[in-house]
Amino acid sequence: MQETITPTIETQFEKEIRQGLTDFPKHLSSKYFYDEKGDALFQAIMKMPEYYLTDCEFDILTQYQSEIGTLFSSDNKPFKLIELGAGDGKKTKILLKYFSDQNYKFKYQPIDISQSVLNGLKKSLSEELPQINTVPKQGTYFEALKEINDENGTRKVILFLGSNIGNLLHKQAIEFLKSVQELMHKNDFLFLGCDLKKNPQTILDAYNDKAGITAKFNKNILARINSELDANFDLGAFRHWEVYDPETGTAKSFLVSEIAQTVRIEKLNLEISFSPWETIHTEISQKYDDATVKWLAEQSGFEIYEQYADKNNYYKNYVLRTAR
Ligand code: AVJ
Repeated sequence: MQETITPTIETQFEKEIRQGLTDFPKHLSSKYFYDEKGDALFQAIMKMPEYYLTDCEFDILTQYQSEIGTLFSSDNKPFKLIELGAGDGKKTKILLKYFSDQNYKFKYQPIDISQSVLNGLKKSLSEELPQINTVPKQGTYFEALKEINDENGTRKVILFLGSNIGNLLHKQAIEFLKSVQELMHKNDFLFLGCDLKKNPQTILDAYNDKAGITAKFNKNILARINSELDANFDLGAFRHWEVYDPETGTAKSFLVSEIAQTVRIEKLNLEISFSPWETIHTEISQKYDDATVKWLAEQSGFEIYEQYADKNNYYKNYVLRTAR
């Protein structure tokens, strides 16, 4: 008798979860934090007193909106405003409102991995700024490149806010920036938000809040595996742990198994064993300085054209233009 083989085509999510949990040391990608619960938790993080990044960028965009607007509208021609990882658009709305008040002609294309976040953004914009032509697009940063490549001669301004680039190691960041740069033209801009090196305690506090929201956010990846892949992770048996290396500027998040345990992931037909205190690395949140941003820009074919900082120098928005 012939055995019945059920053909299984693994989704990208399934493949990466399998790979990450069978690797040594174990790791999972932070891009999988963001299901509906994860989106809500990140929104809560942005409201926490410890998470200074959002307030800093909000202040920069508020303070420099007219300078930024003048820069983006310099040729008085319509442009396409593409936002990578748009989220709830709270900060972007400062610019959108200003641009719209100034009667700039532009189309707004927010791109995000989360469809639910995009639906929320589209809805709130249709209420708050209905005059703006908003065309959301669901996808990863990689898929966003297709939109940047969409050619019709319109000038492009690409927003990459929130220090979202900090989730990439320098090597990956350069690779990604390069692929963006290759699709950009002389008068296009990349507007890049970067969290800066500062008192290491301030950084640790931002990623290890007292209320435990960041811990919940980090553990949400396990919750997601539980619900989507029919697994039995005990979230209480893992501890959120944050480290920050002030030399490299890298903040790293871990989930640490407090006990020896075995987890079954039904949908992957996979059992994963943890030794006591074994780790799963889940996220990096890179912190920058001017020299590092300059180096990243140069490595990927950009030059820094302009930069805006908040009053404490906690955070900067850099305007990059293609160097060639
Ligand atoms: C959305 C990637 C910029 O790394 O600061 C917040 C995500 N992780 N708290 C960051 C996050 C933990 C955030 N980014």
